[in-house]
Amino acid sequence: MKLLEIKNLSKSYGELQVLKDITFDVSEGEVVAIIGPSGSGKSTLLRCATMLEKISGGEIYCKGEKMAETVGGAVRYANKASLKKIRSYFGLVFQNFNLFPHMSVQRNVTEALTVNKKVPKAEAVKTAQKLLIKMGLGDKAESYPCQLSGGQQQRVSIARALALNPDILYFDEPTSALDPEITGEILKVIKELAAEKMTMVIVTHEISFARNVADRVVFMDGGVIVEQGRPEEVIDNPSSPRTKAFLSHFSN
Ligand SMILES: Nc1ncnc2c1ncn2[C@@H]1O[C@H](COP(=O)(O)OP(=O)(O)O)[C@@H](O)[C@H]1O
Ligand SMILES: [Mg+2]
Repeated sequence: MKLLEIKNLSKSYGELQVLKDITFDVSEGEVVAIIGPSGSGKSTLLRCATMLEKISGGEIYCKGEKMAETVGGAVRYANKASLKKIRSYFGLVFQNFNLFPHMSVQRNVTEALTVNKKVPKAEAVKTAQKLLIKMGLGDKAESYPCQLSGGQQQRVSIARALALNPDILYFDEPTSALDPEITGEILKVIKELAAEKMTMVIVTHEISFARNVADRVVFMDGGVIVEQGRPEEVIDNPSSPRTKAFLSHFSN
């Protein structure tokens, strides 16, 4: 089943067209890595897919349900109730963790469960404890984000996203705010999720990780998908000179 379908998506900020006619989909169980130079539109694509930005044209479907379409040149989003349902299909992990600084680690994970999903507190705490243990943070439930390392904070934010039991998890450069020696612990967590068949779309500059974990690699440049395919095609044997030029900046 297709969990995400994007058709002919465009996005402009005023005169600046940032995404141009993007057609992209993700099937259940797939791990997709998006690579490309800074400013190519990777974050904007994730932000459009997760409703943090409004699209300027095209169509988006989640689990076959219509999030947005364009009729006669005008973008139309689904009604509020549908969007609320669609929002529950995905989670997003940001580059800068975006934890609530005034809440304990546990409360960061339980908050959306108790407030948005009306899950009883005891049940939400149980879910949080299970996920924090899974993330190697079983002893940090009562800590505050500022007391944790960047790697630990990012693992809390992954636990927070998983608590809502999403069908698809988006990561926007989950390791680029981390020291290189910490990066590995986050990549390991993502790899474990991939082994559990979690559907994921990961924007990353970690090329060897993308090769290792992704079923498909998408190379974006200038607001378009330049090429996509199996990692061994796109990374080891790119067909576009733009992909080649981009990859030549990486030693791995
Ligand atoms: N809120 C915004 N307003 C205006 N321009 C933006 C905004 N967000 C992103 N852009 C522009 O859109 C382009 C793509 O940005 P982005 O999606 O962040 O790229 P990437 O994530 O690949 O580095 C860049 O030129 C950026 O400056
Ligand atoms: Mg970005």
